[in-house]
Amino acid sequence: MTAVIDVRDLAKAYRAPFSRRQVRALRSVSFGVEQGEIFGFLGPNGAGKTTTIRILMGLIAPSAGGAKVFGHPVPSRRARARLGFLPEAPYFYDYLTVGELLDLAGRIFGMKRAERRARADELIETVGLEHARRTPMKKYSKGMLQRAGIAQALINDPDLVVFDEPMSGLDPVGRKEVRDIILSLRDRGKTVFFSSHILADVESICDRVAIVVSGEVHDVGRLSELVTGTRLGTDVALYAERANDEDLAALEARCERARRRGDELWLTLSADADVDAVLAEARAAGARVISVSPRQQTLEDLFLRRARGEGGPARGGAPAEPDGEAGEGGEQLHGEA
Ligand SMILES: Nc1ncnc2c1ncn2[C@@H]1O[C@H](COP(=O)(O)OP(=O)(O)OP(=O)(O)O)[C@@H](O)[C@H]1O
Ligand SMILES: [Mg+2]
Repeated sequence: MTAVIDVRDLAKAYRAPFSRRQVRALRSVSFGVEQGEIFGFLGPNGAGKTTTIRILMGLIAPSAGGAKVFGHPVPSRRARARLGFLPEAPYFYDYLTVGELLDLAGRIFGMKRAERRARADELIETVGLEHARRTPMKKYSKGMLQRAGIAQALINDPDLVVFDEPMSGLDPVGRKEVRDIILSLRDRGKTVFFSSHILADVESICDRVAIVVSGEVHDVGRLSELVTGTRLGTDVALYAERANDEDLAALEARCERARRRGDELWLTLSADADVDAVLAEARAAGARVISVSPRQQTLEDLFLRRARGEGGPARGGAPAEPDGEAGEGGEQLHGEA
């Protein structure tokens, strides 16, 4: 398979405004995106997602390392012709309609008038904006603007689309619509690379993901490889109406977590707990076992651990910079996840 995107040891330092300090937005980012896959670029706020994407688009230059798109080092005109891009906060002229926006975008790619028209009609239908095609975009909702932005990114029928936070700010219906557009692009053989901190969106559609934290990529791979295989413990649900409270309290004290809801008691056991012994003890106390289920690591567990700077095959948590901030907010997860 051909690598559509190839990013090697990318680093980027910004000059902090009004000072000579440096902000190291990217320390070491490497990953590859194969043709025909949906690749999710995940990370908390300030992790370096937009910086990586801006380098890929040729909008800014890296401080070290390099990136290739379709085998061409960026920035590359030849790569740009096969690329569609939705920026993080797209800005459109308020008074344009979506048809006019797409016409402008088509001109930039040198498309002929008839071709521009046909393509605009097709895209307006794809993103579900037919009902609003004559409405100036200043009257559009956030979700409609996002869809107009996606249509604009697809004007040149790109082989690779790069979306920076395409679902952010959208309601569940809008997010589902964007997910469906991304899936239909893959069905047509396109490659989709998008950044997000909305784990559910990434989990439901991505073939592979990379997790970036404080400018470093810690995990790259299929979700199934990244999040399964690690059993974190066991969840036990008990019905405790007729149980002896003292015996149960003693049991609860030895569990990682215990919650009561009416007559039900939910216990969280650690991975090394003796589940049989706990069940026997609970039954001896007069409780009835409702369910026992293994707790597997989810993408959220992995993401939160990385966002806290725990573990990872790379260099672990990013050290603080002596001469600047290590990506402010990089350790924090603010999200809609
Ligand atoms: N032009 C700039 N000048 C100085 N620092 C910058 C600039 N752009 C980004 N940064 C810093 O670089 C780091 C990475 O920012 P970036 O926008 O790439 O993160 P992100 O992962 O896209 O975050 P978000 O989820 O909030 O969009 C942050 O610490 C940010 O403050
Ligand atoms: Mg960003």
